[in-house]
Amino acid sequence: MAIELAPSILSANFARLGEDAKAALDGGGSVLHVDVMDGHFVPNITIGPPVVASLRKALPNAILDCHLMIENPDDFIPAFAEAGANWIAVHQEACVHLNRTLQLIESHGCKPAVVINPATPVHTLDEVLDLVHHVLVMSVNPGFGGQKFIPGALHKIKTLVEVRESLGLGFRIEVDGGVSLETVGEVVRAGAELLVAGNAVFGKGDIRENARKLLQAARSAALTHA
Ligand code: DX5
Ligand code: ZN
Repeated sequence: MAIELAPSILSANFARLGEDAKAALDGGGSVLHVDVMDGHFVPNITIGPPVVASLRKALPNAILDCHLMIENPDDFIPAFAEAGANWIAVHQEACVHLNRTLQLIESHGCKPAVVINPATPVHTLDEVLDLVHHVLVMSVNPGFGGQKFIPGALHKIKTLVEVRESLGLGFRIEVDGGVSLETVGEVVRAGAELLVAGNAVFGKGDIRENARKLLQAARSAALTHA
């Protein structure tokens, strides 16, 4: 499957969010990753539906990939869909009725996805893999940008590739946390296709160039995929 870059706006300058997001897309990002945190499920607070609505207005054609790190996501899915989210990902750990929540996302016209924290085994997802557009493997503990990549994510990505193959499914595999020029090669060789990157794109230097170089490194690693 094609390798795509999903710049995470968490590390953008929120005072010029539209321009930063545009620069990341100009550099080759094809999906904008939007980190939603509630101060309960994770120890940080970020943004809600009004910011998604503003992004939708500023970037009418962008794919908005909303990563909900919140408790009770069912209460907010309609508002994110209404605001213009395309993809909505919920944490396995936050959903008592995961099957129902994924169906709720679909019923609001968005692509459903599920996320697992570093301590959550891949096989906890076996019964919902046929319902999701993608699986997001966290390679840091969620809550903050700029953390160090946790290598245990690699075997989880490889397991997902195998399970997808054995079940004949088509979900995509996304990775989030600590993806940089140093780690992107092993992430892609493990089988991840959607690469979230915050700090590596928006942290320092030119956003467009950062995105371009990261995507180029990812695509050349994909060519050496075992
Ligand atoms: C962390 C967020 C990530 C974060 C990744 O909780 O889910 O999307 O922005 O940031 P980097 O790429 O800086 O690790
Ligand atoms: Zn995220």
